[in-house]
Amino acid sequence: SCSEDKKWLGTPIEDLRRIPECSHALPHLKTTHNHTVTIRTDLLREGEMPFPYPTKFKDTWDDVSVKMPCSEKNLFPMDIEDRSGFQSRWELIQTALKRGFKSSLDVRDSILRYNVAHAKKWDFTALNLLCTECLEPSEAQHLFNVVLPAMVDLALSAPCLNTMPIPLLKSKNHHSLTMSQEQIACLLANAFFCTFPRRNSRKSEYGNYPEINFYRLFEGSSSRKIEKLKTLLCYFRRVTQTRPIGLVTFTRQTLNSPPNWERSQRPFTRLHITCEGNIEDNGYGMLQVDFANRMVGGGVTGHGLVQEEIRFVINPELIISRLFTEALESNECLIITGSEQYSTYTGYAETYKWKDSFKDQRPRYCFRKCTEIVAIDAVKYRHFLEQFAPDKMKRELNKAYCGFHRHNVSNKHLPAIATGNWGCGAFGGDTRLKALIQLMAAAEAERDVAYFTFGDSLLMKDVHEMHTFLTERRVTVGKKTHMIYSGVFSCKHLYPHPYDQTNPTKQKLQN
Ligand code: AR6
Repeated sequence: SCSEDKKWLGTPIEDLRRIPECSHALPHLKTTHNHTVTIRTDLLREGEMPFPYPTKFKDTWDDVSVKMPCSEKNLFPMDIEDRSGFQSRWELIQTALKRGFKSSLDVRDSILRYNVAHAKKWDFTALNLLCTECLEPSEAQHLFNVVLPAMVDLALSAPCLNTMPIPLLKSKNHHSLTMSQEQIACLLANAFFCTFPRRNSRKSEYGNYPEINFYRLFEGSSSRKIEKLKTLLCYFRRVTQTRPIGLVTFTRQTLNSPPNWERSQRPFTRLHITCEGNIEDNGYGMLQVDFANRMVGGGVTGHGLVQEEIRFVINPELIISRLFTEALESNECLIITGSEQYSTYTGYAETYKWKDSFKDQRPRYCFRKCTEIVAIDAVKYRHFLEQFAPDKMKRELNKAYCGFHRHNVSNKHLPAIATGNWGCGAFGGDTRLKALIQLMAAAEAERDVAYFTFGDSLLMKDVHEMHTFLTERRVTVGKKTHMIYSGVFSCKHLYPHPYDQTNPTKQKLQN
């Protein structure tokens, strides 16, 4: 429906700010009480591989750090004859993975050797189908002879690469973690081989964390799994061929004092709205919104394949956030800076297909790719009208603001926000209300917005009309808050739209 005359409305996209052009000089990267950096910052050189810090593996097994597969405390119960009763699970992992693979069945057998308890339940149909029916024989050969052995080496280098304990980003804690892309690749290879201990059951101490071991990706026969595996194997092929040299920063941000929405005097900011393009391609250099699940990455290691999961498979470094990010609370977000894109795709959900390997040409700034993504999770509504309750609208205003606001950064150094139908697909929200809420949160954070309607030209016109009305009349965020809290979403141009019987919201409100 994006075929009529106008493809975009509002401010030209060229007028919106992007990084690195708008960035200010960042302070030197260093470890502080709320920033963990796992490499030697004093030895960082542009174009060179970062050095892990410290030099020797520091083994911890506590409730503030990730429990590593290579920890001495990672034990495996033995046959009863053995006196000790336990054996090092890392030794078992090494032996199992070093045997080499001739087929996907060997991969399965190796993984199950150190995951014996799950042998009956875990299913490797998708991996098997990929290798036997989807890949060309030569591609399968390359996978078994080259890529998988290189992935094993990468995974087993964990005690050399990931020497510093990885802090858990727990709820209510504002904390940043910077790692090298090489360290992340090593952790992801471990996730692929399902080596992370205490992560295969919801009942463990990680019950409030997303899944990280990849076993669910191998399961079933849907084309979704096959295409996701192709996308991820493209990443592993690339990083084992040429180790990436940049850094990625993960920041958990908590909003402790939310804005007083009713009293806000802020005017609306600029809006570019288009029914063409998408967040990741056309919003380069902007703050790109991830339509997230409270468990970041949502169904990426399982069946899910909508906006968030697609972003996580084409930029797989995002997936490692699942290793250490506790479920997001209503006033929290996760900001990921520096992840690289390795694949292109076509389609969406059921029709998603891995297309090709992609060379990410984004410049680096402060050793990180200029790609900033913020994970904010909308609320999933069971009943459509729920979302119009003031407390529900306030929750979404605060969540979006938490994602958009940056402490101590002047707004002229902040790029525009690239977003779209947040919470309006799998989560069933109303696009017009959510667009308005995001415009209000962006105004409060003093940032412009590039809004991608994903093909919906009617939505483009409606939101643009609403925005024009608000800016022409100089309606403030506070005034608008009063209006929506009292059920007035629109004036003449807004909805429930008096002249437009096709407005989906009006129809639903009337029913
Ligand atoms: N660029 C711009 N807009 C997009 C893009 C894109 N690349 N992809 C999709 N859209 P959805 P939600 C539009 O359903 O409702 C995941 O499982 C498109 O119109 O992904 O917030 C998460 O893990 C689409 O319908 O977001 C959560 O569990 C709409 O954005 C859950 O889904 C919403 O995309 C979040 O669901």
